[in-house]
Amino acid sequence: MPPKNKKTNPSKPSRTSTTTSKEKKSNAHSPSTTLELRLDSVAFGGKGVARLDGKVYFVEGGIEGDLAAVEVTDVNERYGEARVVHLIEPSTHRGVSPCPVSEQCGGCQWQGVPYPQQMLWKKQFVETAIRRIAKLGETLTVESSPSPVANAYRNRVLLRGRIFPDGELKVGYFQRASREFVPISTCAIAVDRINEFIKRLQNISFKDVQAARPSPLLVRFKIELQDLPGKKSSEPHILMSIFDTDDKSFSAESIRTRLGQLPGVAWCGGPTDLPRAPFFEFETDLGVKFHTSPGMFQQVNILHNHTVRRLVKSTVDALSPKRILDLFCGSGNLSLPLADGVRVIDGLEFSKKAIAAAKYNVEQGGIKKAQFFAGDTEKFLWDASKQKSHYDLIIADPPRDGMYKSLEPILSLMPEHILYVSCDPTTLARDLAVLCKQHYTVKRFVALDFFPNTYHVESFVVLERIKS
Ligand SMILES: C[S@@+](CC[C@H](N)C(=O)[O-])C[C@H]1O[C@@H](n2cnc3c(N)ncnc32)[C@H](O)[C@@H]1O
Repeated sequence: MPPKNKKTNPSKPSRTSTTTSKEKKSNAHSPSTTLELRLDSVAFGGKGVARLDGKVYFVEGGIEGDLAAVEVTDVNERYGEARVVHLIEPSTHRGVSPCPVSEQCGGCQWQGVPYPQQMLWKKQFVETAIRRIAKLGETLTVESSPSPVANAYRNRVLLRGRIFPDGELKVGYFQRASREFVPISTCAIAVDRINEFIKRLQNISFKDVQAARPSPLLVRFKIELQDLPGKKSSEPHILMSIFDTDDKSFSAESIRTRLGQLPGVAWCGGPTDLPRAPFFEFETDLGVKFHTSPGMFQQVNILHNHTVRRLVKSTVDALSPKRILDLFCGSGNLSLPLADGVRVIDGLEFSKKAIAAAKYNVEQGGIKKAQFFAGDTEKFLWDASKQKSHYDLIIADPPRDGMYKSLEPILSLMPEHILYVSCDPTTLARDLAVLCKQHYTVKRFVALDFFPNTYHVESFVVLERIKS
């Protein structure tokens, strides 16, 4: 039997406290108190969950099965927040992490946890949300679509750069729940070519620049690296954006000049260059040549993005819609492979740059009957509704907020099918509660994993209009 959760003396975390009066009991649940907790599950957001005296604690740095000394960081009537101070008995789910800094770095919560276990937790997050929020869980089967690889999957990383007073350049991430810099020499979830480039960065010195300054100080900046998977390693294949430094006397321009000359760099620029950056060939998939531009949204798990494109395509091919609307379409990632010269495809997206890329993809590929518009989803839908436009199928891939405000106009357009791609199970469940109240039924539900070793989970949902 696992030991019961208990309050402890902060200075001696593993001993049971003898406090019993009401006042002392409430003090035991105050910020800065140290408790000894057995975590019984994990929550969406990546924290471990434990219960004590009827209160639920969300524990930063903990996972299901850990027995941990935790510090309470915040508490209210219903629940508390805490962070692991040390593990008394680590969970049996904890294995060897392939990343030397995974305990400090804020990027991956679950490095070292076997991937099938991570996938089980992700599926549970989705099932819990649709049961509790959408009230749909009882009869619904949730399929799992794991990422083809659990590490080396990200083709884009946003790093913190530091140039030390002695001229040494380091890159890294922020520490978990803080802004402390954690230097890295490699990132387990980044593709090999990003890691090879990070090694190249580490051989660069700014000794001369720092030495020429009257009083050399630490220089901080952000640096984004994106790999172009369709390019050979012998070709320029890295897009690098270097953002302004926190030190006006050490310009980002001087950093760009030096790093932009490294082998493999296809483009190097700063924030003011991004709007004018050209399109680069990204990859060819399902017969479509996709292009990108630095700073533009692009799915980062290339292999799993192929899986999702195929899920969308096979579903659409089976349903044979004549008119498709792709909402939150980016550069046409999901809908361009659906163009067969007969179906009509309209795509809608906020970002003018992404729409320009979608149009460039259409033009370069000679794609017929696909048009893309820059604008706001809600406004576009209300206009379409007023004009009595008809779409047989709507694809919607909204950001985390979901598409609550767009549901009313969607319900007035009433397409036969909706393919909802979501990156947040809670907002998805909220939206499904509305869609499935009267008009739609869920025909298929797949939990997709674009981000192994983190708590994130996506969903692909096929909704069918209920025939009246
Ligand atoms: C999760 S991304 C999906 C992009 C695309 N479907 C893909 O697979 O690459 C969400 C997109 O929605 C766009 N977006 C966010 N709010 C929007 C709005 N109110 N109207 C139109 N597009 C919006 C963002 O610019 C972003 O490109």
